[in-house]
Amino acid sequence: MATVVVTGATGAIGSAAVAALEKRRAQVIALSRPTFDLSSMTSVRAAARELNRSRSHIDALLNIAAVYVPRYRKSADGLELMLAVNHLGPFLLTNLLRDNLTGGGRVITVTAPSTTRVDVDKLLDRDEFGAFHSFGATKAANLMFTFELARRAKRWDVRANAFYPGMVKSKLMRESPRVLRLVTRLIARSPNRTGEDLAELALSPAHAGTTGWFFKGTRRIDPPKSTLDANQQAALWKRSAELVELEGGF
Ligand SMILES: NC(=O)c1ccc[n+]([C@@H]2O[C@H](COP(=O)([O-])OP(=O)(O)OC[C@H]3O[C@@H](n4cnc5c(N)ncnc54)[C@H](OP(=O)(O)O)[C@@H]3O)[C@@H](O)[C@H]2O)c1
Repeated sequence: MATVVVTGATGAIGSAAVAALEKRRAQVIALSRPTFDLSSMTSVRAAARELNRSRSHIDALLNIAAVYVPRYRKSADGLELMLAVNHLGPFLLTNLLRDNLTGGGRVITVTAPSTTRVDVDKLLDRDEFGAFHSFGATKAANLMFTFELARRAKRWDVRANAFYPGMVKSKLMRESPRVLRLVTRLIARSPNRTGEDLAELALSPAHAGTTGWFFKGTRRIDPPKSTLDANQQAALWKRSAELVELEGGF
């Protein structure tokens, strides 16, 4: 039985993914609030410690959780909230689960084809804050993290791919301007198909060796060029590792 760790399992896409994974008889470990909080690196470390203590192998890690907030908010660690939940938390969790993912583990990070420039120090700065800019930057960071991870994780025989669900009905943008919510409600679709696609990428033998790809559904798409610079990916990795005080990892 495959073991799959899922963040964001209470959300629209996460709960559809859990249902699809369970239909395929995977054992799902859902990391959810209140016992797991991606905005707190202490909480992320505690969850990873518990997983590493109780498991010997994780077949897939699905980084699905994310948050959108319209105003600058600091996490308990003093980091801007969206940066913490959407990028730094998943970055730390993935790295801390390295040994359990070794030998064929698949990391899938759910994101969007964002072209927003990522400057972590600007994102931390209250005076530079813009909600859409910051959210977009965290989604671009998800892509850059995935591509850097795909390179680094080869040594551990671990795969890393990014996934774009398209527009899906959810409460993610509930605090965004009304007009945007209305438009997305009109064009967004049900998360069921997305859940199936994520389960396919997490479990199917057809994707056992796939790494460094960006998917829309189960089809490979081109990521934005702005996320492909290897030097910027490496710089983002280094700064992220400093901020979460990561030692070791991929
Ligand atoms: N919906 C779309 O159209 C769309 C498009 C492109 C990409 N995406 C991506 O898809 C992913 C899932 O989004 P969704 O649409 O399913 O949103 P959603 O329904 O709002 O789900 C978000 C999930 O993240 C969890 N979460 C938020 N803050 C957290 C924290 N501090 N610690 C732990 N978990 C936390 C939420 O948990 P709680 O239940 O505790 O709040 C919830 O399970 C996101 O990465 C998003 O960027 C979505």
